[in-house]
Amino acid sequence: MADTDVLKVSILGRDSIHCGFHLVPYIASTVISTLTSSTYVLITDSNIARHHLATFEAEFNSALSASQSVGGTPKSRFLSLVIAPGETSKSREGKASIEDFLLLNRCTRDTVILALGGGVVGDLVGFVAATFMRGVRFVQIPTTLLAMVDSSVGGKTAIDTPHGKNLIGAFWQPKYIFIDAAFLETLPSREFSNGMAEVVKTAAIWNEDEFAALESRAAEIFAAIQSPSTNNSGRTKATRSAAQELLLSVIVGSISVKAHIVTIDELETGLRNLVNFGHTIGHAIEAVLTPTILHGECVSIGMILEAEISRQMGILSQVAVGRLTRCLKAYNLPISLTDPRIANLPTAKLLTVDRLLDIMRIDKKNSGDAKKVVLLSRIGATYEPKATVVQDAIIAKTLSDAAKVVAGVPTHHPVKMSTPGSKSISNRALVLAALAKGTCRLKNLLHSDDTAVMMAALVELKGASFSWEDGGDTLVVQGGGGGLSVPPKGKEIYLGNAGTAARFLTTVCTLVQGSGASDETTIITGNARMKQRPIGPLVDALRANGNNIDFLESTGCLPLSIAPQGLKGGHIRLAASVSSQYVSSVLLCAPYAREPITLELTGGQVISQPYIDMTIAMMRTFGVSVARRIDEAGKALDIYDIPVGVYVNPEEYSIESDASSATYPLAIAAITGTTCTIQNIGSSSLQGDARFAKEVLETMGCTVVQTETETTVTGPPQGQLKAIEEIDMEVMTDAFLTASVVAAVANGKTRILGIANQRVKECNRIRAMMDELAKFGVQTIELDDGLEVIGRPISELTKGVSVHCYDDHRVAMAFSVLGTVIDGTILEEKRCVEKTWPNWWDDLENKIGIDVKGIDLHSVNSASASNTVSQEASASIILIGMRGSGKTFTGHLVASNLDWPCIDADALFEEKHQIGVREFVHQNGWPAFRVAETALLQELLTAYDQKHVISLGGGIVETAEARQLLKDYHRNKGPVVHIMRPLDEILAYLGAEASRPAYGEPIPVVYERRAPWFKECASHEFVNHVSIDASMSNKKGTRHEVIRFFKHITGQQPNLASNLVPGKRSYFLALTYPDITHALHRIDELTQGVDALELRVDLLSDMTSFGGSIPSKSYVQDQIAALRRSTSLPFIFTIRTVSQGGAFPDSAEKEGFELLKLALALGIEYLDVELSLPEPMIRELVSRKGHSKIIASWHDWSGNMKWDGPVVKEKYAAADAVGDIIKIVGKANSLRDNFALAEFVMEANSKPNAKPILAINMGSQGQMSRILNPTFSPVSHPLLPTKAAPGQLSFAEIQRALHLIGELPRQRYVLFGNPISHSMSPTLHNTGFEVLGLPHFYELQQTTEVGQDVKATITAPDFGGASVTIPFKLDVIPLLDKLSPAAEAIGAVNTIIPTRTNGTDRILYGDNTDWLGIRKSITLHVHSESVHSALVIGAGGTARAAIYALQSIGVKQVYLFNRTRRSAQVLADAFPHAHVEILDSINEWPSGIVPPNVIVSTVPADATSTTEASGALTLSRNLFLYRDGPAVVIDMAYKPAVTPLLALAKEAGDNWTSVQGLDVLLEQGYVQFELWTGRVCPKSVVAERVRARYAETVV
Ligand SMILES: NC(=O)c1ccc[n+]([C@@H]2O[C@H](COP(=O)([O-])OP(=O)(O)OC[C@H]3O[C@@H](n4cnc5c(N)ncnc54)[C@H](O)[C@@H]3O)[C@@H](O)[C@H]2O)c1
Repeated sequence: MADTDVLKVSILGRDSIHCGFHLVPYIASTVISTLTSSTYVLITDSNIARHHLATFEAEFNSALSASQSVGGTPKSRFLSLVIAPGETSKSREGKASIEDFLLLNRCTRDTVILALGGGVVGDLVGFVAATFMRGVRFVQIPTTLLAMVDSSVGGKTAIDTPHGKNLIGAFWQPKYIFIDAAFLETLPSREFSNGMAEVVKTAAIWNEDEFAALESRAAEIFAAIQSPSTNNSGRTKATRSAAQELLLSVIVGSISVKAHIVTIDELETGLRNLVNFGHTIGHAIEAVLTPTILHGECVSIGMILEAEISRQMGILSQVAVGRLTRCLKAYNLPISLTDPRIANLPTAKLLTVDRLLDIMRIDKKNSGDAKKVVLLSRIGATYEPKATVVQDAIIAKTLSDAAKVVAGVPTHHPVKMSTPGSKSISNRALVLAALAKGTCRLKNLLHSDDTAVMMAALVELKGASFSWEDGGDTLVVQGGGGGLSVPPKGKEIYLGNAGTAARFLTTVCTLVQGSGASDETTIITGNARMKQRPIGPLVDALRANGNNIDFLESTGCLPLSIAPQGLKGGHIRLAASVSSQYVSSVLLCAPYAREPITLELTGGQVISQPYIDMTIAMMRTFGVSVARRIDEAGKALDIYDIPVGVYVNPEEYSIESDASSATYPLAIAAITGTTCTIQNIGSSSLQGDARFAKEVLETMGCTVVQTETETTVTGPPQGQLKAIEEIDMEVMTDAFLTASVVAAVANGKTRILGIANQRVKECNRIRAMMDELAKFGVQTIELDDGLEVIGRPISELTKGVSVHCYDDHRVAMAFSVLGTVIDGTILEEKRCVEKTWPNWWDDLENKIGIDVKGIDLHSVNSASASNTVSQEASASIILIGMRGSGKTFTGHLVASNLDWPCIDADALFEEKHQIGVREFVHQNGWPAFRVAETALLQELLTAYDQKHVISLGGGIVETAEARQLLKDYHRNKGPVVHIMRPLDEILAYLGAEASRPAYGEPIPVVYERRAPWFKECASHEFVNHVSIDASMSNKKGTRHEVIRFFKHITGQQPNLASNLVPGKRSYFLALTYPDITHALHRIDELTQGVDALELRVDLLSDMTSFGGSIPSKSYVQDQIAALRRSTSLPFIFTIRTVSQGGAFPDSAEKEGFELLKLALALGIEYLDVELSLPEPMIRELVSRKGHSKIIASWHDWSGNMKWDGPVVKEKYAAADAVGDIIKIVGKANSLRDNFALAEFVMEANSKPNAKPILAINMGSQGQMSRILNPTFSPVSHPLLPTKAAPGQLSFAEIQRALHLIGELPRQRYVLFGNPISHSMSPTLHNTGFEVLGLPHFYELQQTTEVGQDVKATITAPDFGGASVTIPFKLDVIPLLDKLSPAAEAIGAVNTIIPTRTNGTDRILYGDNTDWLGIRKSITLHVHSESVHSALVIGAGGTARAAIYALQSIGVKQVYLFNRTRRSAQVLADAFPHAHVEILDSINEWPSGIVPPNVIVSTVPADATSTTEASGALTLSRNLFLYRDGPAVVIDMAYKPAVTPLLALAKEAGDNWTSVQGLDVLLEQGYVQFELWTGRVCPKSVVAERVRARYAETVV
């Protein structure tokens, strides 16, 4: 067509690839005129159809009618089919539905199919074309960049199956491939970047020039797709913009390479393998992260990792790796697995080194077992013309996220090396060369994140252009002479965490010239840490000079919005005590001000003068001289005069090596007693850190030889380094970390000063050094502007320490120095060195000669995740907390319940030192006490680490070393519990107490200071409510909670739901109250039937916070405490965000995470953790969970999630990796969705060791799934204010439904006995069944003997269970298969339970619940520890149960009275361990006996009397003489309600509680009910009905 310009590329000998812009008319006419057909079928997906289908229809129809009107062509038709977008369409079903469409429309062999779309449409439609009618012609019209440059070229077509991607397909070449780059204008930008990965890859392996263009022109390439072309501009060459030309040339360049390679090696035998650069590792990553992360994104990371393999093997230079990294970053592609887009995914957990290697094992390129990787030798060329065999160990090392330094002597001793270019000089040189006029060749530029960010920003501001020479060793800077422009609207300059760039660019941005529009500004921003780093003083100075600069988020930090006004100049005052970079920033830009600048530094001490001198020296090299003023005495002032001018680029500028980096190899020589020479840095250096060797290492005992350009250090023999009493490192602050690790092994104390600014670097470095050195056992003391390090001999330092690096390169490198002498040191984030020395680990190994191993923390962590707990159940419990918080009280209560000894550390201290704590402090001072206290702690944690409760002094957390010991203890051994108590109560308590040393400072101050330390050191928090709650029931609840909490967290008896096992069903009730205390009075009713309570934390609201629904931690804590006192059910802690159907703000991820951590600290049994939470957060929760369980959950509210689709599989795998229970929630659109769900669950459960899965569909159509789900089905209750989710059913509703569908058959329960017509049991059990919706029924079977009819009943298939009463409690025993220990001991059975042993065989089990009813009736009123002695009246079967109950409580003395002593004796003999003493009278207590506080009467009421009636046992008031505490009397006779004994008790003291026989009957009935049904009996309703019936029958 005359008005369309296309570029043609040849493939397999034909010019079939046509490229251009706005090609639709061209495509229609070319296809119709050259591929004659009766039917043209265009297939596309709905996303593309929305934008482009109408145009195609119009063009084809008009072209068809035009060609038909010309005559000759038979009538042809144009059909179109729109399919669903996404990879799931690329399936057998997808293929079949297209084929059905073609057949239905009677398409024949002459059909031409047009595939309009991305790789999915291309692959799928291509495959249909390959087999439809044994192959029809087809045309590729790719609409994504990936499809244009990759999938449409080469003829590969395929579909996916559940077994894998692209497993079924064919080679089928299209007749044409039309590349219309205008389609990219509608493509989402992430998809564009996805395609750019392939474009960059092709250039990287094939063509350096092309790569250089991609590298430097990213912004223009993006611009070409971001601004839509109007009026078909670009269709002809004449209308094509420069940006369009560029875009097209990039695409055509890439296609040409692929077309060339395909043509030479169509069947992928060698050369074609090269296009797999980045794919060996990229595919493995993709296999784990698909479909969330796109193919190109995975390949992008794969390319970097494979390039690093090349670098590690010494094939590729760091320069090339750096260029590749920056280039991919420029297209918004991830370049490492730590990219937040990846690291925050739950599936990222699965990216372990082993897993990735395992996936790589089945790569098609492999030869046998050996893996093959395409290795680059430089940008634009590969090492071999094919993939190269690489050993697993090398790949593993590159993949691992942490490094382990192998201690030893450097094998390359004496070492001679140079370090990478200085970061400070590189950044200054970049700014100077960019602002200068002319061209400058920068040599030895540091290739790092910092410089990359700086270069990208300068390009963004159009301040200069950059290109590379010598394979990237030389950077050619074309200076802009000070010309800079405002970036396009909406485009922010992102600086990551590059501090220098942020400081320098702030002033540079003021120089930008605007176009005159009023709202133009330049915005610079950074990552979260950058947004905390200060920039205020610089901004203040510039503002004072007339510049308009706004803080967009927090005052004093990035992001900044800077108006393009230029610099006014004149006098500028700048506070320079925080950072010298502010000064350098102003100096560098000062010549471009309108007036000469006089810069006056204020704020006292100027920090890091050498850096200021460096800036001035470099400015001079670029042609501008700065004058520093001096006073009359010749003393230099902090005032500088800078003339107006323009920098002139020198032809070449060579960047000195980095002196801060040089400190690491030099320190290794010092610490290992070897020699190291660093070239390129000597006494003439501009860098302050160049003094490190002379001023620090020489003083410490090393031999240092420094020439102008070289520095050599030789360390003394190992162990002989001397500490430096005091050193001011203000001129070399960055080197203080290196100095600290050397000081850690020097003899004596080293005091480092002048480094306060290190608190505001990449992290708070002073704190970081203290915390990490403490892990090695090195003590430090923090100073206002420094740090004191107390050295220890190497042999005493802790080995195998895992160092957290705070994403700070200097922390990582400094500790790797220590690692050369301390075995097994692990540096957790090895990649953080990329900032200044990306190949540090390679150099440490290859140039210094220290072995470095890769460590996969991922698998270390996931191993501990699946191990459930690393703490042992028998590990001692450590209690910490403020003095007066209740540690001693709690400690004793816990100790007595666990039967472990309790140690009070203060008491032990006194015993050991033979002096009171107070006196010790008085004599020796606090510091000495803290040292002694820490030593004792260390001893305690080793000597008493099993089965003890240890209560520590309140001040134990004051030293970093003790804190580290506590942290290590809870990480590796057992629980450290912080006992918390409100400050006012502590104050009240301590007011009266003086046995321990006074604080010497106000208690609230101490409380404030220690609060974060307690938090940091504790694994758990226990809120001490003991003294607050006065009421008896509260006290009981609190006591109960102390026991529950400690038994749970130690794992002695985790409070978990027993029904959560295969074959049983479990349920939880979701509490949907804003304030749960409103539910407490009905908690029994609400929790009917359920196994756990879900706390919907997002719905909690204390009504005090406005504008957000995040409940405060203390509110949540109080709510939980209140609920704990009312129920012993386990809790599920859940936070649902708004997008998950809850109320928690989606943006409050961090707050949610804090609440989840709180839940674990409080010993919550189940934690619902959404998989959408960032992976590191999930990982941390898993590592902290202890004996609690994680429910890993995924909710899809869209209704699009398919239970047989890949997303569910992905989520299941992710949940399986982190959770103990898997929860997946979808939404049903029809009943069928529930069957798909059931299929999925069945398949998941068929795997060995499958974890419990909770899978349900939301919505009323999903109710079926709620009925069938066996694990923790969420239920509602009619009394709740709202349902937690649509479609939720109550427990009873689900039981009724289960019965109706045959899943819960009706069972018959009976009572055997005689006479039993007045029994309360039918009312009791039938009410329970009814309330819970169970279909069962309970009836009486009165019989004269245990005969055939009883046998028939208990062997019938619908037999559910039986109660047995007088006179058959003994007679039934022969019919049973097994007795419980209690029934055995008591010698009577009152409950029969049919149970299944191995799943099929049914056995009849006999139990006795009478004793449980008695025990419960006692302990409800008197704690078991408080039962001092008991009296039992009677010697029959019930008395046996009573004695058994008392024995189980541990009562130390039981008195037994029976009218006939002989029977009493028989009973006493039956329980030799129950301490039974027989009494002959009950109306007098022998002298010396304290009367009992428990009385149980088991004789009929009419056999007793309060008067001396004939025949009856006379009861006197003397029975109730006990007055010293709570006491209880139980009459087992339940007719009449008030027996003579209970009547008498009424007249006794207030401390006596009466329990009627009916109460005991109820209690034992509840137990019976639970034994039969596995459900807690709904007590309140049942009790109410039974009492009503009792009132009717017993008059
Ligand atoms: N055959 C081969 O040699 C080969 C090579 C590489 C990849 N592939 C295959 O390619 C597929 C991936 O292809 P893809 O990345 O193009 O994904 P895709 O086809 O799924 O397209 C990506 C998304 O962009 C939308 N989209 C496409 N063009 C658009 C446009 N112009 N405007 C707006 N939206 C648009 C699509 O609807 C889709 O949602 C995979 O199945 C992969 O296996 C095949």
